[in-house]
Amino acid sequence: MSRKKQKTPSESIAIMTELVLPNDTNTLNNLMGGRLLHWMDIAAAIAAQKHSNRIVVTASVDNVSFSAPIRLGNVITLTAKVTRSFNSSMEVFIDVSAEDIPGGKKVSSNQAFYTFVAVDQGGSPIDVP
Ligand SMILES: CC(C)(COP(=O)(O)OP(=O)(O)OC[C@H]1O[C@@H](n2cnc3c(N)ncnc32)[C@H](O)[C@@H]1OP(=O)(O)O)[C@@H](O)C(=O)NCCC(=O)NCCS
Repeated sequence: MSRKKQKTPSESIAIMTELVLPNDTNTLNNLMGGRLLHWMDIAAAIAAQKHSNRIVVTASVDNVSFSAPIRLGNVITLTAKVTRSFNSSMEVFIDVSAEDIPGGKKVSSNQAFYTFVAVDQGGSPIDVP
């Protein structure tokens, strides 16, 4: 019986930082939710790629809620890692924090679970470690 290759969550960790610029904000100078979701999708996809060494597609996203506004000029840190894998699908946990560097304040912004599926060149699901 062949055993699947094993990998640990730490092997897939992807850390991404972004500076909130005027083009990322709404008319209140707060980060737009859609922009943050876009960055979360990218960070989570990189983690899923690192786990699978494959092309990956977003299959689903769990609940995402925004508890406090993120201000223009804040630095966003997104940390993503694969926390479970199944056949072709992977659960990715992502943690987001926002930092006001001149003000010396860092707050936890939000967390979410994404599901990615590894696919072959034709877009068909393919097994992952
Ligand atoms: C995700 C996708 C590859 C699944 O293909 P499929 O032909 O439905 O494949 P299957 O039904 O065999 O499922 C394959 C795996 O995907 C998982 N999956 C399928 N739909 C899912 C969903 N909505 N949420 C979570 N997992 C899902 C299945 O549970 C299965 O997991 P496993 O292999 O670990 O057991 C396909 O639906 C797809 O390409 N979707 C569009 C992806 C995309 O474009 N994302 C960007 C959106 S803007």
